[in-house]
Amino acid sequence: MTLLPSRSAPPTSRLPPLFLLLLLLLLTSGSYLALSSVVALGANIICNKIPGLAPRQRAICQSRPDAIIVIGEGAQMGVDECQHQFRYGRWNCSALGEKTVFGQELRVGSREAAFTYAITAAGVAHAITAACSQGNLSNCGCDREKQGYYNQEEGWKWGGCSADVRYGIDFSRRFVDAREIKKNARRLMNLHNNEAGRKVLEERMKLECKCHGVSGSCTTKTCWTTLPKFREIGYALKEKYNAAVQVEVVRASRLRQPTFLKIKQIRSYQKPMETDLVYIEKSPNYCEEDAATGSVGTQGRLCNRTSPHAEGCDMMCCGRGYNTHQYTKVWQCNCKFHWCCFVKCNTCSERTEVFTCK
Ligand SMILES: *[C@@H]1O[C@H](CO)[C@@H](O)[C@H](O)[C@H]1NC(C)=O
Ligand SMILES: *[C@@H]1O[C@H](CO)[C@@H](O)[C@H](O)[C@H]1NC(C)=O
Ligand SMILES: *[C@@H]1O[C@H](CO)[C@@H](O)[C@H](O)[C@H]1NC(C)=O
Repeated sequence: MTLLPSRSAPPTSRLPPLFLLLLLLLLTSGSYLALSSVVALGANIICNKIPGLAPRQRAICQSRPDAIIVIGEGAQMGVDECQHQFRYGRWNCSALGEKTVFGQELRVGSREAAFTYAITAAGVAHAITAACSQGNLSNCGCDREKQGYYNQEEGWKWGGCSADVRYGIDFSRRFVDAREIKKNARRLMNLHNNEAGRKVLEERMKLECKCHGVSGSCTTKTCWTTLPKFREIGYALKEKYNAAVQVEVVRASRLRQPTFLKIKQIRSYQKPMETDLVYIEKSPNYCEEDAATGSVGTQGRLCNRTSPHAEGCDMMCCGRGYNTHQYTKVWQCNCKFHWCCFVKCNTCSERTEVFTCK
């Protein structure tokens, strides 16, 4: 018996079979295919671990593992923007309940729910479009239709990389909308708000141009479309939120299934506009924690003692009053540079107060 491997055995016989399989793929099919197989192997595991995906979303996840990361980033961008826009509100974009890729879901079909759906749908479309432009995703890139064409009237040519927002929007539609599986009024509301978010993004695409010619003379000009900053979408949707429209469902078919939404007013048969945010239920006041509405309440929230607005303690704490916390803020100040070479500072301090809701 010997512990040394026998000379006649093939040199790879001790490697695990999975490694061999991958090696075989690498050698036989070019590195790109092999790489995507490795990614796909991981995707099965990753996609099954993501909580709250609908079956069709899980299928998209498995077939496009490169996109799922970008989808996650887009949804997170939507949640972050929501928290920024509502940082001074009683509702600060958090909710009780199950955590999904899209953050926490609101149970009540309120205008707050409308905002979260619109901003995540827009976030996913924005992130996918940006990733396409940077060449980070297979199957997409710059907008090919806007390449080389000459705009006769305005005297410029499409050039550079135009962001393919239609691809991003299409992708968002296929993925984000796939979570609406129940055939009820809330589904119609969610789908409308998803579409409104994407439409707001599409309407705010920008045109950027560059002049060419001796010393900037602009003998020729090339232009391309770019994505707006996502902050701009946040503000635009916040305005839509302030003007959100209450709707009700119309059951038009013989099966009395929810068919479309109309503005909730007596004797009105008007449909909401495409870019309106719509809601079907009144908002709770978000003062107390309440599992039935998903409200987390405002206990412990920071508030401003003197402000008469939403962030003021009166409004924020719903009349329950507030606690005062005093602390001493300490920092380095009056720093001077001495030759050579050190910096000398004083220590400054200040008594400060913060207020939190009872
Ligand atoms: C594209 O990929 C690069 C390198 O991985 C990364 O730094 C960048 O943030 C990605 N861009 C987008 C829009 O996902
Ligand atoms: C929102 O408010 C809740 C409840 O007071 C708090 O726990 C949470 O940290 C806040 N979230 C943000 C993003 O400020
Ligand atoms: C509180 O609100 C007042 C009035 O709106 C404002 O002047 C002040 O800067 C706010 N304080 C803080 C700490 O935000």
